[in-house]
Amino acid sequence: MRLKFWMSLWIGLSLVSASQALAEVKAYRASILHFTGDPARLGEQAYQYFQDGALVIDNGSVRDVGPHSEIAKKFRDAEWVDYSGRLIVPGFVDTHVHYPQTEMIAAYGEQLLQWLNTYTFPTERKYKDYDYARKQSRFFIDQLLRNGTTSALVFGTVHPESVDALFDEASRFNMRLIGGKVMMDRNAPDYLVDTAETSYAESKALIQKWHGKNRLLYAITPRFAPTSTPEQLAAAGRLKAEFPTTYVHTHVSENPSEVEWVKSLFPERSGYFDVYEHYGLAGEHSVFAHGVHLTDSEFDRIAATRSSIAFCPTSNLFLGSGLFKLLPALDKGIRVGMGTDVGAGTSFSMLQTMNEAYKVVQLQGQKLSSLQSFYLATLGGAQALGLDDKIGSFKTGNEADFVVMNWGATPLSKLRNKNSKTLQEKLFVLLTLGDDRNVVETYVAGKRVYRAK
Ligand code: GUN
Ligand code: ZN
Repeated sequence: MRLKFWMSLWIGLSLVSASQALAEVKAYRASILHFTGDPARLGEQAYQYFQDGALVIDNGSVRDVGPHSEIAKKFRDAEWVDYSGRLIVPGFVDTHVHYPQTEMIAAYGEQLLQWLNTYTFPTERKYKDYDYARKQSRFFIDQLLRNGTTSALVFGTVHPESVDALFDEASRFNMRLIGGKVMMDRNAPDYLVDTAETSYAESKALIQKWHGKNRLLYAITPRFAPTSTPEQLAAAGRLKAEFPTTYVHTHVSENPSEVEWVKSLFPERSGYFDVYEHYGLAGEHSVFAHGVHLTDSEFDRIAATRSSIAFCPTSNLFLGSGLFKLLPALDKGIRVGMGTDVGAGTSFSMLQTMNEAYKVVQLQGQKLSSLQSFYLATLGGAQALGLDDKIGSFKTGNEADFVVMNWGATPLSKLRNKNSKTLQEKLFVLLTLGDDRNVVETYVAGKRVYRAK
């Protein structure tokens, strides 16, 4: 009698836990595209596309992906969501953006150095106030999510409060976000500079508070060589040596006047990139924005140190900085991600960033295929950040960040999409004509965090 009671209790409990486990499993039916490598190198082997596909998410992680007909049999009891006719891709990865510059996007008429003095520095002053920074962080993260961007490498301002605000806000969505406080101790207004010592201490405290907390990671962020003394760059290098899993995030060789300035400030170094390398700031987790005017031998040093470049086409065109040599950089084996670089960049949309990337490559007499663009905006970005074991594709076990898109969001893009025959053509139309209007829903760690109204 007793045994029977315990047996039935055990069976009952196992049934409850089995159904709970199934309740965690969600399956999404849609066209699904993701990458395993660079299509320019691997061709057809570089991606999987399931026209009628399904993506299975289990407790915030990718469990399976494949043709709907197969997945439907395996996961009959999952909770199914039908996005038929739409496209699911991994969440976009923005490898370079300044959140405090959101409010000054589209500032007229200047190239880099004048643009910084005229527009950027006065704006960044406001981020000393945590409450203000928090409000702007909320707006910024909303912009990321409505554009299908689920991970980003983000500049704060010189104020630690700006980073606390950003990370507090990103925590609400459990985003995989990398950020850091700007280190800047010269050639900027008095109200916006720190010192080698304070920047070291404040960055260290932020690292201890945030680096590795949930999905958040810290980037040591010297603004660029002209605004740091050799002492501050050395302090940044010490931090990197003390906390080797942190990132380094800065700018390099964006504009010709800037490059000349760096030569005059650091005459003992062989070039701009060598300044960073000398202070221990190059390496596997170092991301250098722009690199438009890097020399061939500097490209070699970037490749040799396994550093990454954030390619920011809308910004490079807007500030008149020049044309980044994307295909030569990739040919050297450099990891390159796409960056919006808002507010010098002109859109949060990674589709619009791909659109301008195509034109930058065209102007150099070369071609950037739509498949390679989507690779760069997803897995390529994740690789540039050394996070491809976690995000950027639908590999089993990866964190479930993804975006559901419409192929066409306007009468024109709907018409053009209908006239497209191949996947490549449909993707090219999407990236050329698309923007946040194409983003229907965005998911972070398996949870829906944005839905178009
Ligand atoms: N170089 C140094 N600071 C900046 C910045 O804020 N934006 C861009 N685009 N380049 C920089
Ligand atoms: Zn930038």
